[in-house]
Formats: sequence, C-alpha cells, structure tokens
Amino acid sequence: MINKAIILAGGMGTRMSPLTKAVNKQLLPIYDKPLIFYPLSILMLAKIKDILIIVNKGQLSQYKKILPDGKRLGINIIYKEQNYPKGLPDAFLLGEKFIDNKNVALILGDNFFYGQDLSSKLIKSTKLKNGAKVILHKVIKPELYGVAKTSKSGKIISIKEKPKKYISDLAVTGLYFFDKKVVEYTKKLKPSSRNELEIADLLNVYLKKKKLTSDILGRGGAWLDTGSIEDFYKTSAFVSAIENRQGFKIACIEEIAFNNKWINKKEILDAIQFYGRCDYSNYLKKLIS
Ligand code: TTP
Repeated sequence: MINKAIILAGGMGTRMSPLTKAVNKQLLPIYDKPLIFYPLSILMLAKIKDILIIVNKGQLSQYKKILPDGKRLGINIIYKEQNYPKGLPDAFLLGEKFIDNKNVALILGDNFFYGQDLSSKLIKSTKLKNGAKVILHKVIKPELYGVAKTSKSGKIISIKEKPKKYISDLAVTGLYFFDKKVVEYTKKLKPSSRNELEIADLLNVYLKKKKLTSDILGRGGAWLDTGSIEDFYKTSAFVSAIENRQGFKIACIEEIAFNNKWINKKEILDAIQFYGRCDYSNYLKKLIS
C-alpha cells in the first residue's frame, strides 16, 4: 500500500531560461494555474495525503506563498530543499526520513497526466505491496525519453535512457511507485557520466530482481512533459481547450479535496478568499452553490 509521495520540483529549468531565472518552472502557469497544481492533483486523485515537495535551494518561500502546508486541502505537505540537481533518485536520499521505511510514489514536478480512468488506474497502482511500478505511454520520439521494451504479454524486458537506436515507442512517464527498498537500492547507485543518479539505473535494479511491473496509459489518456517552452505552451493550449469546452477544470486541487471529502464548504470559502476575485474563485463558488 502507498500512502506517501514525493513531488520532485527543483531542477534548473535550463531549457526554459530566461523564464526560469527568477521563478521555478513548477510555479509558471499552465493556462490558469501553476504547473505544480497538476502533479499535486494526480497524487490527490490517487488518494495520497502525505506529500513531500522537493524544491531548489532558495525557492522555498515562493512555494510557501501558494502551498504553505496542505492544511487547506486536508492533506500534509512538507518541503525539503535540494542544493543542486543530482538526479531523480536523489529524491529518495533527501526523502529518507519522510519515507520512514514505507512504500512511496514519485512524480516529477513538470509532468502532466490526463485521461479517462486515470483515477482508478492511480488507485490501483497505490495497492503495490513490493517491487516497483511504472506507467508507460506511447510517444512519437522515444529517443527523447526513458524507454521500456516489453514482451508480447506486456512484461518489461529492458529500460534504456534516451536510446539512440529504436527499442520501443513506450516512454516511461514521470510517475513511479516503489516499495520501501527504494532507499537502500538508491544508496548503492553510482552517478552516471553526466554525474547524476539515473532513474533508469534504479528501475534496472528492480528489473534484474524481476520486481518491475508496468501499466499503460493508453490513447484515451495524455501524458505531457512540460520541459521545454514549446511543450509548456502546448500543454497550456490542451488545458484551455478542455476547460473551455467542458466547463470543468483540470487540476483544481480544492475540488479534488472536496470530492474526496477531505475538506468542506468552509475550506472552499477560505480558498476563495485566498485567491481573491478571479475565474478560479468563480469556479470554486459554483462548486459549493
Ligand atoms: P529535468 O527536466 O531533467 O530538469 P529541469 O527541470 O531542471 O530542466 P532542464 O533540463 O531544462 O534544466 O527534470 C525533470 C523534473 O525533475 C523537473 O520538474 C525538475 C525535477 N528535478 C529535480 O527536482 N531535481 C533533480 O535533481 C532533477 C534531475 C530533476
């Protein structure tokens, strides 16, 4: 069972400079809300209430302005600073105390997920007892991502980071579920040639032990990695198109908390006060009217 999760929301955001020189990438807008709301909403849809957000050194005060401690969402949010980007598995070293020898999920702060049945898929993944689980999604340019080669029956055969030669078009998305061994295994990883701990190396430890499973986010779902300026605007356009057509918001964190019965009308009214007069508040008003 997984009740804890880490959002890795530090990084240099080099590809998006100069936008990211003063403001962390995860605080920049995807259409009508900061990017961090999207990975946070995914964890909340998975019914995970205990969350560690890892941020860059010096940027904690920016995050606390928008998400102080999770109380107003009925969840627990704590923060930890990362001095410099040492690679994705560094999350488990920085988070060792938070993880407290329990199973844990990891989501990258710049990953966007959307789709039918997503909530039930997420909840199913939190039932993991041991081993690790990844979510795969078909992409046109697999050479840009970590990629999983699978057998006909869907079992993972190998995982490669940005393979130059084609092995498969299934990208490993930035949402992972691990058992409590993850801290121990991470401690044994060696930095790669780019001097970072690599998530592919960690997944390969599980794979060698035959403990790596996967689920596929099919064509009814969307996974977007918002690492570049182009991707950022494409994701914004996607959210705008869905929200303005359907009238529902994607990643309205108060709505998810309200639907999960973690908060009630009072907290929604507090949120309206907090955000002030804006479309987001109007949406919250409708929710409780
Ligand atoms: P990346 O996209 O690899 O890095 P980045 O966001 O700094 O962007 P760029 O490559 O343009 O410099 O990281 C994926 C996500 O993980 C992103 O949300 C930042 C986060 N991250 C950390 O918080 N710490 C780390 O050590 C790394 C490698 C990434």
